[in-house]
Amino acid sequence: MSDPIPFIDLQAQRKRLGDSLTRAIDEVVEGGQWILGPQVGTLEQQLVQFAGVKHAVACANGTDALLLILKAWGTGPGDAVFVPSFTFAATAEVVALAGATPVFVDVLSDTFNMDPGSLEAAIAMVRREGKLAAKAVIPVDLYGQPADYRKLEPVARREGLSILCDTAQGFGATLDGKHTAATGDAASTSFYPPKPLGCYGDGGACFTNDDALAELIRSIRNHGEGEHRYEHARIGLNSRLDTIQAAILIEKLKIFPDEIAARERIGRRYNAQLSGSNRLRVPHVIAGAQSVWAQYTIQVENRAKFQADLKNDGVPTAVHYPIPLGRQRAYRHFPSVATPVADALAERVVSLPMHPYLDAGTQDRIIAAVLKSVG
Ligand SMILES: Cc1ncc(COP(=O)(O)O)c(C=O)c1O
Repeated sequence: MSDPIPFIDLQAQRKRLGDSLTRAIDEVVEGGQWILGPQVGTLEQQLVQFAGVKHAVACANGTDALLLILKAWGTGPGDAVFVPSFTFAATAEVVALAGATPVFVDVLSDTFNMDPGSLEAAIAMVRREGKLAAKAVIPVDLYGQPADYRKLEPVARREGLSILCDTAQGFGATLDGKHTAATGDAASTSFYPPKPLGCYGDGGACFTNDDALAELIRSIRNHGEGEHRYEHARIGLNSRLDTIQAAILIEKLKIFPDEIAARERIGRRYNAQLSGSNRLRVPHVIAGAQSVWAQYTIQVENRAKFQADLKNDGVPTAVHYPIPLGRQRAYRHFPSVATPVADALAERVVSLPMHPYLDAGTQDRIIAAVLKSVG
């Protein structure tokens, strides 16, 4: 029996970074500013440089990053916020937490990202019903690929919607050379450990080119602070980033461009080797897009058998996501347009091991197991 294959190998990255991480963590512990310490400001500046955006505000996690932006926009009861029906729960959860109404939109079957035509239909539905005000849209860069902002942005602009890019899975990805974090009116990301840029706990960040919005987010992140720490200008929350996580991210950011290149090589290699089979469907990357391949996700007919076959061959798989968000128990009472694509994807998608340290030999083993199973 050959070695078990990890789904994501974070220890390989840990080995590569060596003592630099331990030193960075020690420095924070010695320094004594354990929350929003100087490394948090340094990280924010480096994220700004990296993504080509004016402001980065680090916070406690990717869910809060979405919520902070919605709160800063004053999103609340009576507002409709359009979200894809095929995404992680946080994208719609924050809308409900803000007191607004998530409205579910279908996705495209080749990229898994929001369908601009379905967004138009959802906006028309909300306007026709006349109960909610169409406020914002949250496209998601699912599995690391930018949503098709070339088509989504004109729809949002025409309809007067703010655009919040949920790039929790796509930080580092670009479309026509522009970072997803610099796209729309604001963007959010997550530094949850298995994300393309992850820390060793929870972390997140908000991005925007809007000075006033960035200032509001900073205030809301820390209990609505005003002129000073104990002057509260508004209702906020505690969504500060731990300094240790910032120190870790500073070290990881140094190797991130190289890791993105490795992800691209591995993602393209999967596509090249698997696209010959007509019994599975490989992900399509739109022209001009650079994915960070947070997941490598294919579509198969008989997923239960496929996963069992791969498990027998020592290859782990995962399903993101088995139930469309708009059909989940917690969300099915919210408005939705028809989502036949999200419904079909939830039955068919399966993710293969994917990380920047996946060597060619191991990848070949995975590819062989996939092709053997689909026949
Ligand atoms: C698309 C999407 N949005 C939001 C989040 C929330 O991020 P976090 O887990 O850091 O709160 C995640 C990650 O889990 C995600 O995948």
